[in-house]
Amino acid sequence: MITLNHLEKKYADTYAVKGLSLTFPDASITALLGPSGCGKTTTLRMINRLIEPSGGQVLLDGQDTARLRPEVLRRGIGYVIQQIGLFPHLSVAQNVATVPDLLGQNRSQTAKRVDELLSLVGLEPSVYRSKRPAELSGGQAQRVGVARALAADPPVLLMDEPFGALDPIARDEVQERFLNIQRELKKTVVIVSHDIDEALRMGDYVALMRAGELEQFGTPDDLVRRPASEFVRQFLGDDANLRQLAGVPVRQFARSGEAAGLPRIEAGTNTRTALALMLRAGSERAAVWEGERLLGVVGFSDLTRAEGSGVAPAGSGAADAAFATGSSSSSPSSGSSSSDSLSSGRPG
Ligand SMILES: Nc1ncnc2c1ncn2[C@@H]1O[C@H](COP(=O)(O)OP(=O)(O)OP(=O)(O)O)[C@@H](O)[C@H]1O
Ligand SMILES: [Mg+2]
Repeated sequence: MITLNHLEKKYADTYAVKGLSLTFPDASITALLGPSGCGKTTTLRMINRLIEPSGGQVLLDGQDTARLRPEVLRRGIGYVIQQIGLFPHLSVAQNVATVPDLLGQNRSQTAKRVDELLSLVGLEPSVYRSKRPAELSGGQAQRVGVARALAADPPVLLMDEPFGALDPIARDEVQERFLNIQRELKKTVVIVSHDIDEALRMGDYVALMRAGELEQFGTPDDLVRRPASEFVRQFLGDDANLRQLAGVPVRQFARSGEAAGLPRIEAGTNTRTALALMLRAGSERAAVWEGERLLGVVGFSDLTRAEGSGVAPAGSGAADAAFATGSSSSSPSSGSSSSDSLSSGRPG
């Protein structure tokens, strides 16, 4: 657990971060969200002491990090930076292996781990292992950055706009992939973003900052439905419901029905993209597939009704039966692999 206690960073006479107190819960993703210049990166870098605070404390599992040697502290903290920061003269594999190599691990073990990590972030090891960073697209380089941060298997992962260089569709895919990884690894993750959709989709919790201070901490649902201030409401925008829905995978709306002849949608596709695909296909309904498995069908009206009424789906099933009031856990990462909505009808 990471706790910030009246944390401050002052440059000359202005505060980059001011009186920031908040806790990043264990085994969860917390999105640090806010406008450009509000102090997100500064906050993140004070956690691993790349920036020394001017005041306050950072506690890691109750221990004051100011008392730890920075190298020791950073060994337990993976870090993905805003500008990627790969070593240009090293291969992809060498970049990923930087940390395990430093820790003096056995070479063949490290090589195996590197391949696992590259697969995990969706880069085929045999293709990418030997490439140099200059031969990668921005998005591929960012994936290498994520693999590198995971390499030492740190309990804590700090990510500064890790998917910022990706186009929207690739970003969807990598976010989904990361959420899948996180369901297994259960790291304590702080992900900086100024992308509202990303924060609502990735965060179990969202900490919204404004001018160095905390404006609201809560679940995505809290911020969307119970904004603590006019600033929060305006920052999320009038289409906050739609934005939140955009982060919900369409699998959560799948219900049994006749799927024959319907366009195919992957279960992990977010709801907004699913609506767009249905519009493009000119179909009111679509079949939701998880790989080879048919989960069921989804109707255009299920999705638009959920959006219009501000209804968040709770688990699987039809949207109209799904709203639970006062629920504080609306984690978009609590994806159900439900089989209760399984339909046997396969398109012929
Ligand atoms: N070394 C520095 N010296 C003086 N001011 C700084 C320094 N580093 C950051 N700042 C200021 O502190 C504030 C917070 O910067 P920070 O990089 O944390 O913002 P951010 O929220 O990460 O923004 P972005 O979304 O654009 O990355 C900004 O106003 C910035 O100009
Ligand atoms: Mg920043």
